[in-house]
Amino acid sequence: MRTQVAIIGAGPAGLLLSHLLTRAGVDAVVLETRSQEYVASRIRAGILEQSSVDLLTEVGLGDRLRAEGHEHRGIYLQWPGERHHLDFVDLTGRTVWVYGQTEVQKDLVAAGTAEVRYEISETTVHDVETSRPYVTYVDARGTAQRLDADVIAGCDGSFGPSRNAVPAETYERTYPYSWLGILADVAPSTDELIYAWHPNGFALHSMRSPTVSRLYLQVPNGTDPASWPDDRIWEELGRRLGHGQDGWKLTPGPITDKSVLPMRSYVQTPMRHGNLFLAGDAAHIVPPTGAKGLNLAIADVTLLAKALVARFRERSDALVSSYSDDALRRVWRCTHFSWWMTTMLHTGGDPFDAQLQLSQLKWVTSSTAGATGLAENYAGLPIGF
Ligand code: FAD
Ligand code: DHB
Repeated sequence: MRTQVAIIGAGPAGLLLSHLLTRAGVDAVVLETRSQEYVASRIRAGILEQSSVDLLTEVGLGDRLRAEGHEHRGIYLQWPGERHHLDFVDLTGRTVWVYGQTEVQKDLVAAGTAEVRYEISETTVHDVETSRPYVTYVDARGTAQRLDADVIAGCDGSFGPSRNAVPAETYERTYPYSWLGILADVAPSTDELIYAWHPNGFALHSMRSPTVSRLYLQVPNGTDPASWPDDRIWEELGRRLGHGQDGWKLTPGPITDKSVLPMRSYVQTPMRHGNLFLAGDAAHIVPPTGAKGLNLAIADVTLLAKALVARFRERSDALVSSYSDDALRRVWRCTHFSWWMTTMLHTGGDPFDAQLQLSQLKWVTSSTAGATGLAENYAGLPIGF
């Protein structure tokens, strides 16, 4: 089989890339190890930056997002005894949207633009330095297959094979804490997200809809979710998020999902080797505190689609040549922001660090310059910045 772009991975990066290319008349085939149902139900990111929403709207994927998503003007930052609202609209004129990655994924599947081979195995990329790269794999029926292409897009996340096929510099930071994340069938106790610093550790109150809440607690690495029964989780969330403070109440409810996520920063440069291009988590991982992972994947494939369309439709390689540098400019900005939010809000038991964090939080919430810096990064810079 032959196509112009062989895309490995049907996560948001791979499916959106396929959608953008197909709309522009470039052929693509997507290869995915998991089943369609598994990919669609993975609970992950929940916040879309303004530029992600604008892009999805521009390419015909904004209807349900705008009908069912929730636009937020800002976030709350808090520490014991104080809660402050940062209004991104006042500060930067931009907003963010609560719309789960699962919903983005459903919209991409519903668009029907991607030709996806699900449940494949043994994905291997070949001859990526040449103009005739190809991918071999075993299809869902167990038959060996070969997909020839002009270009391979590695959108296979942090555990896929693409990144290993790119000789690259890697930059990495592992954090000494993880997040325990829960999904609960209960109305959110807040109108906008609350990011809380607390001596016991960070907590975040997010949401998915008017009836579903998503909350996180900082926990030590290696934590077993079984050591956190539901009552313990709600009690600790209440403590860290300030239940009872100024009359605010955290309403508990049935927990429907519970998992522990480790936190890591990782950047691989360059994001290209010959005719293999990396996008999304295949090239970089951010800790979740700044809500950047999904947005970065969307920004990468927007740049990559433009570059590949210019190559195939206009015979121009300028954007292909600059893809890695163009994408990495934003990747490093988001890597810094995610590290900065993470280290400002997570506690490690060092009293000196704690005072620095509180000083930083007081500055960010009281200075227009400090607040604007956070708002500009959180609500997101335009794609292509
Ligand atoms: P992925 O979504 O990882 O998609 C990669 C795809 O490639 C997968 O479908 C995978 O099955 C497939 N694949 C892997 N190997 C192969 C192979 N050999 N052959 C074919 N296909 C393959 N970000 C936030 O902003 N906020 C959050 O709260 C948040 N929570 C997260 C929770 C978890 C548990 C994880 C893992 C990530 C979270 N993220 C979060 C990050 C965000 O979800 C990712 O940045 C986003 O999914 C990146 O999209 P992607 O398409 O690049 O990669
Ligand atoms: C969510 C996750 C984040 O990492 C974040 O910063 C905000 C929201 C969420 O899953 O809703």
